[in-house]
Amino acid sequence: MLSAFARPAGAALRRSLSTSAQNNAKVAVLGASGGIGQPLSLLLKNSPLVSRLTLYDIAHTPGVAADLSHIETRATVKGYLGPEQLPDCLKGCDVVVIPAGVPRKPGMTRDDLFNTNATIVATLTAACAQHCPEAMVCIISNPVNSTIPITAEVFKKHGVYNPDKIFGVTTLDIVRANTFVAELKGLDPARVHVPVIGGHAGKTIIPVISQCTPKVDFPQDQLTTLIGRIQEAGTEVVKAKAGAGSATLSMAYAGARFVFSLVDAMNGKEGVVECSFVKSQETDCPYFSTPLLLGVRILRLGRLTVEEAEFSVFTTQERGPARLLQISFVQ
Ligand SMILES: NC(=O)c1ccc[n+]([C@@H]2O[C@H](COP(=O)([O-])OP(=O)(O)OC[C@H]3O[C@@H](n4cnc5c(N)ncnc54)[C@H](O)[C@@H]3O)[C@@H](O)[C@H]2O)c1
Repeated sequence: MLSAFARPAGAALRRSLSTSAQNNAKVAVLGASGGIGQPLSLLLKNSPLVSRLTLYDIAHTPGVAADLSHIETRATVKGYLGPEQLPDCLKGCDVVVIPAGVPRKPGMTRDDLFNTNATIVATLTAACAQHCPEAMVCIISNPVNSTIPITAEVFKKHGVYNPDKIFGVTTLDIVRANTFVAELKGLDPARVHVPVIGGHAGKTIIPVISQCTPKVDFPQDQLTTLIGRIQEAGTEVVKAKAGAGSATLSMAYAGARFVFSLVDAMNGKEGVVECSFVKSQETDCPYFSTPLLLGVRILRLGRLTVEEAEFSVFTTQERGPARLLQISFVQ
């Protein structure tokens, strides 16, 4: 089972997510001046769910905050600049979203970002552990497959680790899968739901097309191309931006969608499901993305098709598809 979301005591778990502040979420964005941070902050400022938005970065936050603060929505906005202002940015937060760090350039993998972003995420999450240990922490910074374990270790070191409150934001993979399936089938993307499990890099991204709603079927060659496109969609954007960064606008949309789902669940809404990369006992991997019924439990996936398993990184000698199918995904 994957974190306390997976345990059967639904009511108790719902309490662990609950906040007294209905539609009153205090949200911090760390890395708020960046390509993702700015549009993400705009979407959060535009939401009636958010009452306080605190924006942190090592550059430009006074300007970003001043700009956003003129928008006629209820969330107050304040900018914080540099490490000495970080504690004040975090105090009292319900949710912290972290898109701080460097993005990919053409030819780079997400793992190439590790050295720089690992340090940034470790520093920022240490401040979260100290100044808002109860907040939900949503990590966007890549490589997510590594920045989540790093965050867990930082929280453990500070003695405030709660795996239910640390999320790797993989929502963009789901958003892309929904969009690409809808394009191919002539459907409304808003009505397409594709679970995407595993991790957030290349072949660790496993779109479970067989569990798409509505049900969709593809010829094998089209399915192969579709899965490959979802797995490499980030690289598609990196190449198209030709050195000017990676996905920012679609990521801001996806990050905001995840935060809104989280806040909905914190406000007691039932049946909110999002995939996220979290501490997991669903497979041999200590961290894994599966659908989460937020506030209650991990949703178990049904059987993967052999093709889906084969397209994943798990088709190695050690972790063959049959084993994955048997142990991990049979309900
Ligand atoms: N999870 C996903 O699906 C996904 C998708 C796209 C991008 N990303 C990742 O998100 C991250 C940010 O991407 P971007 O395009 O916004 O990059 P960006 O360079 O445009 O912005 C990053 C921001 O982080 C800030 N920053 C750097 N060091 C910091 C520190 N120590 N404290 C606070 N802020 C700091 C920078 O000043 C900058 O404003 C990258 O790691 C990228 O790979 C993740």
